Amino acid sequence: MGGLEAARPLMVARCLFPDEAGRSIDQVLPVRGAISEWHTDPGMPMLGRFKRSRRALATESREAISKMGIDGRTCYFAGIVRQKNLFKSMYQWAGLRPGKVEHLLREFLSERYVTYVSRGGMRSDMQPLALILSQGYKRGLEWRGLPLGKTCYDICIYQQMIQDLQPRSVIELGTGLGASALFLADTCRSIGVPAKVVTLDRNADAVSEQVFDDESIEFIAGDVKDISELLTVEKLTGLPHPWLIIEDCHVHLQGIIDHLFPLMAADDYLVIEDIGHQPGGGRIIRKAIESLPAKSLMVDTFYTDLFGRNATCSPDSIFRKFA
Ligand SMILES: C[S@@+](CC[C@H](N)C(=O)[O-])C[C@H]1O[C@@H](n2cnc3c(N)ncnc32)[C@H](O)[C@@H]1O
Repeated sequence: MGGLEAARPLMVARCLFPDEAGRSIDQVLPVRGAISEWHTDPGMPMLGRFKRSRRALATESREAISKMGIDGRTCYFAGIVRQKNLFKSMYQWAGLRPGKVEHLLREFLSERYVTYVSRGGMRSDMQPLALILSQGYKRGLEWRGLPLGKTCYDICIYQQMIQDLQPRSVIELGTGLGASALFLADTCRSIGVPAKVVTLDRNADAVSEQVFDDESIEFIAGDVKDISELLTVEKLTGLPHPWLIIEDCHVHLQGIIDHLFPLMAADDYLVIEDIGHQPGGGRIIRKAIESLPAKSLMVDTFYTDLFGRNATCSPDSIFRKFA
């Protein structure tokens, strides 16, 4: 990729590496030069720029990077970008031309928590067909023998969220047959998180017996438009935090947010599935978010972009609450 070096683009990157003056991750530092001079791998070419010992730089930058949700040691993308000679064939195979690498790196180094509006409308690295097929091509994905209405990306995003957040309560709106409630309960159990899953649907007849047999799941029958009567303030107050709320019935979003948001604690999560992919869905989400105090629900781009920008059924709509 001689072209990469030759292009020597002007980049404005966040300072991943604290400098001698103590400027840190929260400040922006203009970096001019080839991509290989400012990639995120700890202790690499930025060393000379900041005159720090390799060891000190590695420790500090690791901490800084982890605040952005990036782990330079485990991030495959960072490794590929750094070792472009080693991965030359992969660069070519993936069509990583300099402009594309620059775009990816800009996203890679951007803020983790951003406002919904600042994401600028639904943009995705994922072709719609690829996202559709990622729910299973010849046969849809299943959990415990039940159809699980999730893409392979979202299954992994939830696994990662559960591991990171360790939710004590999962509130799911839209049970379907119950595969997702069982998956969420099983995933929490498997890593020793004592979570209670509360799941609600108006179609109780469709719900599998397995849901009723699972002690960590509570099923509530009813229409989500009556959410304030089905999930009363008293009941919600008794559910321990952190909460992972998953809106998967695609209706009454404003009423759901009006009822749940005031009871969410800082660091709780709200995931709005599918609406962002529907025509006019972005407007519905935007209106609901704009009715809340500014920056109180921020998009967590670590999860929305875990497999590339918006490779998820919840585009721009995995939100973390900030106090
Ligand atoms: C996409 S499915 C849920 C899939 C499930 N969460 C999964 O991942 O396997 C949507 C569910 O929302 C329920 N639903 C739709 N409108 C509803 C409403 N107004 N109140 C309650 N549930 C509703 C439907 O009955 C359906 O089971």
